[in-house]
Amino acid sequence: MSYMDVAVPSIPAKFKSEKSYHHHHHRFLRWHHFSFPKLLTLSFFAAAILFAFFLISPHSSSAVSRSSPTTERRSLRTSSSAAWGGPEWEKHVRSSARIRRRPFGISVLVTGAAGFVGTHASNALRRRGDGVVGLDNFNNYYDPSLKRARQALLSKSGVFLVEGDINDALLLSKLFDLVTFTHVLHLAAQAGVRYAMVNPGSYVRSNVAGLVSILEAARSATSQPAIVWASSSSVYGLNTQVPFSESHRTDRPASLYAASKKAGEEIAHVYNHIYGLSITGLRFFTVYGPWGRPDMAYFFFTRDILAGKSITIFEGSDGATIARDFTYIDDIVQGCLASLDTAQKSTGSGGTKQGPAQLRVFNLGNTSPVPVVELVAILERHLKMKAKRKVVKMPRNGDVQFTHANISLAKKELGYHPTTNLQTGLKKFVKWYLTYYAPPSGSYLNKKGRSGSSSNSS
Ligand SMILES: NC(=O)c1ccc[n+]([C@@H]2O[C@H](COP(=O)([O-])OP(=O)(O)OC[C@H]3O[C@@H](n4cnc5c(N)ncnc54)[C@H](O)[C@@H]3O)[C@@H](O)[C@H]2O)c1
Repeated sequence: MSYMDVAVPSIPAKFKSEKSYHHHHHRFLRWHHFSFPKLLTLSFFAAAILFAFFLISPHSSSAVSRSSPTTERRSLRTSSSAAWGGPEWEKHVRSSARIRRRPFGISVLVTGAAGFVGTHASNALRRRGDGVVGLDNFNNYYDPSLKRARQALLSKSGVFLVEGDINDALLLSKLFDLVTFTHVLHLAAQAGVRYAMVNPGSYVRSNVAGLVSILEAARSATSQPAIVWASSSSVYGLNTQVPFSESHRTDRPASLYAASKKAGEEIAHVYNHIYGLSITGLRFFTVYGPWGRPDMAYFFFTRDILAGKSITIFEGSDGATIARDFTYIDDIVQGCLASLDTAQKSTGSGGTKQGPAQLRVFNLGNTSPVPVVELVAILERHLKMKAKRKVVKMPRNGDVQFTHANISLAKKELGYHPTTNLQTGLKKFVKWYLTYYAPPSGSYLNKKGRSGSSSNSS
């Protein structure tokens, strides 16, 4: 509605308001003719009618007394725009959490389940018969319709996705009341390195406060779940030793995103130490694949090449090439599931530690960094189109020049073995992209992700 619409009422509205002014003015004059006792009697009757209405209404005191104030607040609370709670909702949560694989099945709360990694991981768990309940706030950091499409995919395979925020303590406590989760796969986060310069608060809310909120709920649960959560390769920051190993320095982050993940690793240490929570942090290295994130270079390069737009490729200050250890989504999912399967039980109960608990950190990468120019060349081959390249010096925006994972620890402890190279993985991505975004018109322009340039590692 424009300013004009508000400021100048239409003729019928003007007519209506004038008419109602006369009507009310007339009634006001009539009230003046009432005596004071008459007014008092009328007020008494009005109050009595209101009181009777209150007694018979569904929100009357008798209804409130049946449920505790906490339950009342919980069931009425809304997260993002959607309400949660109620018998139907509880039924969905319980049924989705049910383990169908005996005797070794697990029941997992997956946060960030409408996200890229969360959707794939939830699906994989569900496929092998584990109980899975998803949680996501469907924020609009990138096109939420992609998150809704992933939700539809999960719903088809029987995974219920709760719409809510990880900072909603009441929602978390309700979920832990309803289900005895054996594990939490915590993937919800504000991702992206460069966006931290636009919206720093969202990193603090989701990656720091949100992680604490999840750990608080887990440590207070009567039966504490084991936690597996996504840290990031970005914690290596300005580290120059390659390949990056878990024993290397991680105290020189280059972005607020990296700092928030590093903070998460320290917070994990505290909850392990005080409350006996079993916690595994996974440092993912540039994950890509079908249903991926539109803010990542391989994704928006594909979109822009198809649209005939030029793509911006960064190079290092000394002309050095930018390289990433691109890791295919199925390999990452394999690492997540192996982490869940090898996680020991938390040792605390209801907030009290009973003994030392497991605390682990693993690199999940591919061990073969690929220059971004090579990524573009592979995309050109798969898309059968030439990219219009624009090469510029990398600005200081939080990105690092290269990432390279040493995965020997994950190999040894988790049996982690990445099997997909970039050539094969991008072929699968492009196939998905063309199917998902191909509009009937044949143009790929009408569904877009967040735009950007060059390589993005988180
Ligand atoms: N994809 C990568 O290359 C990569 C690399 C390193 C680390 N990671 C980490 O892995 C995890 C998953 O990443 P992804 O690529 O799937 O990202 P994603 O953005 O696709 O998924 C994250 C999901 O979390 C949800 N979310 C964010 N804040 C939330 C909140 N406060 N409450 C509830 N839901 C919230 C978002 O709506 C989103 O659906 C993240 O923790 C990310 O930081 C990813």
